[in-house]
Amino acid sequence: MKISARLGAVKPSATFAMAAEATALRKQGRDIVDLSVGEPDFDTPAHVKAAACEAVARGLTKYTPIGGTDELKDAIVTKLRRDNGLEYGRAEVMASCGGKHALYTAFQALFDQGDEVLLPAPYWVSYPEMLVLAGAVPRVVDTTAERGFRMSAEQLDAAMGPRTVALILNSPSNPTGAAYAEEELRVLGEVAVRRGLTVITDDIYERLTARPVRHVGALVPALRPNLVVVNSVSKSYAMTGWRIGYTAAPTELIRAMTVLQGQTTTNPTSIAQAAAATALAGPQGCVDEMAREFTARLALVVRGLRAIPGVRTSEPQGAFYVFPDVSAFFGRRGPDGPITTATELAMYLLRHAGVATVPGESFGAPAHVRISYAAARPVLEDGLARLGRALGRLS
Ligand SMILES: Cc1ncc(COP(=O)(O)O)c(C=O)c1O
Repeated sequence: MKISARLGAVKPSATFAMAAEATALRKQGRDIVDLSVGEPDFDTPAHVKAAACEAVARGLTKYTPIGGTDELKDAIVTKLRRDNGLEYGRAEVMASCGGKHALYTAFQALFDQGDEVLLPAPYWVSYPEMLVLAGAVPRVVDTTAERGFRMSAEQLDAAMGPRTVALILNSPSNPTGAAYAEEELRVLGEVAVRRGLTVITDDIYERLTARPVRHVGALVPALRPNLVVVNSVSKSYAMTGWRIGYTAAPTELIRAMTVLQGQTTTNPTSIAQAAAATALAGPQGCVDEMAREFTARLALVVRGLRAIPGVRTSEPQGAFYVFPDVSAFFGRRGPDGPITTATELAMYLLRHAGVATVPGESFGAPAHVRISYAAARPVLEDGLARLGRALGRLS
């Protein structure tokens, strides 16, 4: 069967081979410490689950408006005001089937063939692929561990080309955990305004940080006509399976996205919408509790990694990822032969230490591996000890 050329240009998830190998090893009875996960290990808060049960009991099981119920839209508006100091109305927000779907829909509505989009690297694996699907061209801006994986205003300015129309900002970041400080964000926002860039902020990890930072849209109000805010309940409320994300943007973009969503997925699940509305507008203690635990784990993991000779790691500010440089091990030998790439090292760690990580190549950072600390502290301690022993055995 003929497959479209459009899809031929899109890479499948690079984590798939690792995940498949981890599953195969588990089936053989191997004890695998999974430090590759991209979702909180906590359960969805009880009051959110109860809201979903109540929605079913009330018969909220039919189509809703495409962009979400008024109840959910109002909860999104409340959340943006409370957490971000951003004022939006119902007509400027919409819900989608997860943050990923919100980003996909926004890219389709924003970009024309050949439009360039600035993408600071290391980046989340799906951005380049979703941009390509929208006909856009990712223009990668490399950041370094020495600068905390943060792009400077000078870098942003210098990266602009004649067809550059937008910038993606993901702070805290997947995979580095790096978060911009307030002043850095303000300056980046001002450059974006001066250059007429559309700024897409992917705020999905914003609550999972020890040091909350104001939103670039609140710091630079002049950005507002060109600002697209994307967020989701997935990570903040441990709701990855519920598939609710949302966008706040000028009405004309929300209108265009609603047209596309109306011809593709229609509304996100009605029951999940009720749960998300409760998550966003209800008590927020559950988020703070989770963020506190992640912060404690972050310190544990950074300390553990820094104690392993050859592993170099910067200090992340949030999300639940650490992104160490493991290139010191390239050129060494393991039982399966020489290790020359992050993927080979990750495969060695999986097979010979029973620890699953994600190699950095697909994040645009081939010297690194991503380690998730969305696991209980004893699991992390076990994983770190295994990593130390396995890396120490490489000759
Ligand atoms: C940076 C980033 N953005 C967006 C998403 C999408 O999340 P979801 O579709 O579950 O809301 C993820 C998920 O891993 C992510 O890491």
